[in-house]
Amino acid sequence: MTRPSRTTTYTLVALGLVAVVVAELHLGLPDPDLSIKNHHIQHAFFILGGGLWGLALAGSLMPAGGAEPRRSRSAWLVLAIIAPLAAMFLMWPSTYEYLEAHPFVHALDHGVFIVLSGLTTFAGYQFARSIGWVVGAALTVMAWAAAFGFGVTPGPNPLLTASATTPAAASATAASATAAPTAAAVDGATVYQNCAACHQPQGTGLPGAFPPLAGHVPQLLAAQGGRDYVVHVLLYGLQGPITVDGKTYNGTMPSWAHLSDAELAAVIDYVSTSWGDAFPSGQRPYTADDFQEARATELTPQEVHGLREALKLP
Ligand code: HEC
Repeated sequence: MTRPSRTTTYTLVALGLVAVVVAELHLGLPDPDLSIKNHHIQHAFFILGGGLWGLALAGSLMPAGGAEPRRSRSAWLVLAIIAPLAAMFLMWPSTYEYLEAHPFVHALDHGVFIVLSGLTTFAGYQFARSIGWVVGAALTVMAWAAAFGFGVTPGPNPLLTASATTPAAASATAASATAAPTAAAVDGATVYQNCAACHQPQGTGLPGAFPPLAGHVPQLLAAQGGRDYVVHVLLYGLQGPITVDGKTYNGTMPSWAHLSDAELAAVIDYVSTSWGDAFPSGQRPYTADDFQEARATELTPQEVHGLREALKLP
């Protein structure tokens, strides 16, 4: 076994760079803000990039004309097992909400992925060249599998949308899929679990970080254009400075477009009528149709912010 040629090393470095740039700028990847699944795909590319860099480094450190690393160096094998396990632990779904609410820690987490996957392949390679490739590939495959396994956020359910729009479709689908929930069966409180990490279980928000929903959503609904604005916030997110009850917020509200229209209607109805709040007099609850219509004109979170400014919402 000889040291890999310079060309091989440079090629690995370049390929690693491509993978990290693809992940960082999500080139050709679906927007990672959109769903946990897409986010895990982004992780897979970070891991691939770090892994290739680890291989390049290990290869270039081999003594020229050197032999296969001695197998007695079993400590490297321990590291080659621990490092990928640590990376998998960082992708545990229960950490997702915390990371979503702490963008800096989240960015750091992505850097740690690169380092850990580099360490995985580097350590494996120090033990035996083939082991570096095997553990690196295994980690990348695991990250990819995470996206399609436990990392999947529920997509729009056509049964829900159909049963919410036409009664005929509702009875047709009810007959064929007894177990499928209908629009009326969507529980707003359950959907609200998506929001509680940031806006808090009682809708109080966190001063300076997440605006309150309790007491505040009815203010939005009562203002002119507020009802539609709320639909747009949920579908497309919100980014830009806002002031609520005299406190400033300048965070990012993620888009919830991956939830079904019925789920979105249920959660906003829940938010509008919980914690002692009620719809402003004369306003009906939201229905799936309200969201279905608003999906036609896609906005960016910044454009939603522009809408809020233009309407001078409270
Ligand atoms: C990751 C944290 C996070 C989650 C989860 C989240 N939000 Fe938000 N939300 C925010 C932030 C931050 C803002 C303010 C954005 C800004 O400063 O521009 C916001 C703003 C809003 C607003 C607009 C308030 C206003 O005055 O314009 C509404 C309505 C809202 N969220 C509802 C929800 C609902 C309903 C859910 C669950 C489906 C949810 N949010 C989930 C962070 C979050």
